[in-house]
Amino acid sequence: MAENTQEVVKAENTAATQKVVEEDKHLYFGNRRSFLSKIAWGSFFAYFGLFVFGSVRGLFNRVIYEPSKSFKAGFPSEYTPGTVDERFKSTQKVWIIRTKDGFIAQSTVCTHLGCTPRWLPAENKFKCPCHGSGFYGIMADPKETAVNFEGPAPRPLERFKITLDSDGQILINKAVAFLGEKGQWDQPGAFLPYKG
Ligand code: FES
Repeated sequence: MAENTQEVVKAENTAATQKVVEEDKHLYFGNRRSFLSKIAWGSFFAYFGLFVFGSVRGLFNRVIYEPSKSFKAGFPSEYTPGTVDERFKSTQKVWIIRTKDGFIAQSTVCTHLGCTPRWLPAENKFKCPCHGSGFYGIMADPKETAVNFEGPAPRPLERFKITLDSDGQILINKAVAFLGEKGQWDQPGAFLPYKG
C-alpha cells in the first residue's frame, strides 16, 4: 500500500515537473518570437521612413550657391599709375596692378603651395612667407611683372580676366585665368590697356 502511495506521489511529481518545463518552453519561445517580430517591424518602419524621407527630399531641387567669380573693382581713375593696389587682396585674393599703360588683375595665390605672398613696394617684389618664393613687381615690360625669380615657385602668379564694363568700371572675372608660362598673357583680357 505504502509502495503504491509512493509511486502515485512520484508520478504526480514527474507530471508537475513536466508541466513546468512545458510552460517554461512556451514562455521562452513565445518571448523570443515576440522579440524577433518587434525587430522585424522596427526595421520595416525604419526603412519605410528613410524611403519616404528620400522621396520627399528628391522633390526639391538642391541648389548650391557659390560666390560669384566676377566683381567690379571701381573706376580706372581711382588707381594711381605705378602702384599695386591691395584693396581686394583679402576679399577677392586679387591685386590690381596699375602700370603706366593699363591694368593687371593678379592672383594673390603663390604658385608653389598656395600661400599668400606679401607685396613689398620698397623691393618691388612679391615675397611668399612660406618658402621664400619671390615674384617681380611692376616691371617696364608687363610680361615680367609677377614672374617667379627666386625660391621654389615653379611658375609666375596667375592673372585673371580684366575688362571695362558698360558702366565704365573695371570688371574682373576670376573664372578666366591666364598663365604666363603658357604664353597666355598676350591674350585679350589678360591686360586692360588704359591711358588716363
Ligand atoms: S607656398 Fe609660396 S613659396 Fe611655398
